[in-house]
Amino acid sequence: MRLPGAGRAARQFIAGETLQKAVEAVRALQARGMVATLDHLGENVATLEQARAAREEYLEVLDAIRHQQLRSTISVKLTQLGMDISEEACRENLRVLVERAQQIGDFVEVDMEGSAYTDRTLAIITQLHREYPAVGAVIQAYLYRSESDVRELLRHGVSVRLCKGAYREPSTLAFPRKADVDANYLRLMRLLLASRLYHRIATHDPRMIAETRRAAEELGLMKNQFEFQMLYGVNRPLQEQLVRDGYRLRIYVPFGRAWFPYFMRRLAERPANVWFALRSIIR
Ligand code: FDA
Repeated sequence: MRLPGAGRAARQFIAGETLQKAVEAVRALQARGMVATLDHLGENVATLEQARAAREEYLEVLDAIRHQQLRSTISVKLTQLGMDISEEACRENLRVLVERAQQIGDFVEVDMEGSAYTDRTLAIITQLHREYPAVGAVIQAYLYRSESDVRELLRHGVSVRLCKGAYREPSTLAFPRKADVDANYLRLMRLLLASRLYHRIATHDPRMIAETRRAAEELGLMKNQFEFQMLYGVNRPLQEQLVRDGYRLRIYVPFGRAWFPYFMRRLAERPANVWFALRSIIR
């Protein structure tokens, strides 16, 4: 993306283009009492060489986490590891990352992409989890299927990051109305917390957060038995409030050069972001 203004606007949501910048961002978050998950941006790679390169880059990220003692997991997308080209190669790339993460006491969060990938993504995670528990899944509350996916993941002891969902999906697969997505989010959140596995409640929605806090209290969960997650650059005051209130908060920190699709999803989530971006581009 060669539009300098767009790069400027994207900077709100992205830690920088290099691993060094991402490390600095994680350190700054740690100083504010937060932890991180690092996303080396990239998706839908076109060749197995690119998928392998993405895997090598993530191994460098895990090295940095280990040697610089960062409190961070990694977040990966399976289409970045070659899912569109070879499911087998993708599975192997993920296995290598999860094995390394497990060796160093870290964890791999597998992001969830568009619905064309849901079945394959969950199957790969569930299978890998039998051998390497250091891998977790993401569930999108906007999909009708998610309650049954949550039950299946819980049956296998796989922990979950719960989000609302960021891709454009047809009404045959996803709730078109926000109120229904929110209601499903709350239903799934309660299912997850009641399982007493360690889950990740990813949202900036104050109502979802308040209801999660209430549900955790009702279930007698301690504040370290689950975590909240938010995106880098979104609603910093709310992030700080959660930390002040003693909750665990992990910030999703994207970095790298392939920021355009990620940035577009952030714009689509909130119309005000589009105006902010346009102002930056015009300036
Ligand atoms: P909602 O969209 O209702 O927003 C609630 C409030 O939050 C808004 O009123 C606004 O104030 C604020 N807000 C939300 N988005 C904002 C933005 N971009 N900029 C500024 N303010 C914003 N999705 C997916 O499909 N697969 C995945 O793997 C992940 N992973 C993931 C990890 C983490 C840590 C988070 C927080 C989110 C994701 N998502 C995701 C994205 C998620 O599905 C969803 O699109 C966004 O989080 C927005 O939904 P909210 O829950 O914040 O609620």
